[in-house]
Amino acid sequence: MENPLLPSEVIEASAAFPGQVAACTDLDALLRLKGAFVGREGSHAARLMELLKTAPKEQKRDLGAAINALKNQWEEALKSRQGELEEARKRRTSLASAWDPDLPPPLPAHGALHPLNRLMNRLVEVFRPLGYHVEEGPEVETEGNNFDGLNIPEDHPARSSSDTFYFAQHPELLLRCHTSPVQVRGLKRLAPQIEAKGGIRFLAPGRVYRKDEVDPTHSPMFHQVEGLLVGRGIGMHHLKGTLAYAMKALFGEGADVRFRPSYFPFVEPGCEVDVRCPLCGGGGCRVCKGSGWVELLGAGLVHPNVLAYAGIDPSVWSGFAFGMGVERIAMMVSQTPDLRLFFENDQRFLNEMGGLY
Ligand code: PHE
Repeated sequence: MENPLLPSEVIEASAAFPGQVAACTDLDALLRLKGAFVGREGSHAARLMELLKTAPKEQKRDLGAAINALKNQWEEALKSRQGELEEARKRRTSLASAWDPDLPPPLPAHGALHPLNRLMNRLVEVFRPLGYHVEEGPEVETEGNNFDGLNIPEDHPARSSSDTFYFAQHPELLLRCHTSPVQVRGLKRLAPQIEAKGGIRFLAPGRVYRKDEVDPTHSPMFHQVEGLLVGRGIGMHHLKGTLAYAMKALFGEGADVRFRPSYFPFVEPGCEVDVRCPLCGGGGCRVCKGSGWVELLGAGLVHPNVLAYAGIDPSVWSGFAFGMGVERIAMMVSQTPDLRLFFENDQRFLNEMGGLY
């Protein structure tokens, strides 16, 4: 504002003004600067107004315009800096008020059971009131328990090395391909007490291995829950009633079961068991592929050879057995289309599974 009518000290002060404004780091300093430039009394602006009053008439117009321009320039700069400082103060106070020193510190994230383990626990709880306890067996099994004891003959394709994981140094050992070898172990272990206890019943949850390529519905490692009951005069009707009860406990009162004949060497007769789709109630949906039913189990009456192998007299005792795929149930209930999600340990997925069963 190089107007010759303006006093030189005002021109100098005005030149230094933008730097001073920028140097104000709090609102109080800015207010002091504001007072000095545009305040009512004693400010540069006030002195300029005095000057205007006493100026000769012919200069008033030019001088007045110059003074106004200066004042506008100053006020503009003050206003914009004031906005910045107020914004900064707001940010500071909201941060400060978000921190409450009386609150307990945030807790570290808790660990939790994997959804597949939770589902297996749930299945155990469903069968516990029926008198089933949990039997355990190793994942590294003998050929005897995994095959021979289950009436699976030497030439059965499941025994080929292209179907089952064997150990090069220990040809009699393998990774169990189902939880059924726990039938053999449990029957052998409990055979001496069978008379005293009036029978045998247990559940065997665990991990199993197959030579499958990984894809959305296959994995070389997955989980099964085996169930076995032995008593006097046990028939298909007992199996049917037990599974109908369990599926209702698991999926709700609307759940129903359907039996289709099938073949497993260790049961006779053998069947596959479908559950009425718990998601659509049987009307047909994506999960049951429109059929209204989902295949969940293999089952049947324990083959007499299996009982005899374990030292139990099949002319006195009979029983039923079933085996279900845990991932399959989990995928159905959660409508998860890809099995691999359960093994990838993405916590967002695992947490999502949290409340499902
Ligand atoms: N072991 C069988 C499987 O892995 C399932 C099954 C268990 C079938 C018990 C009948 C009885 O497919």
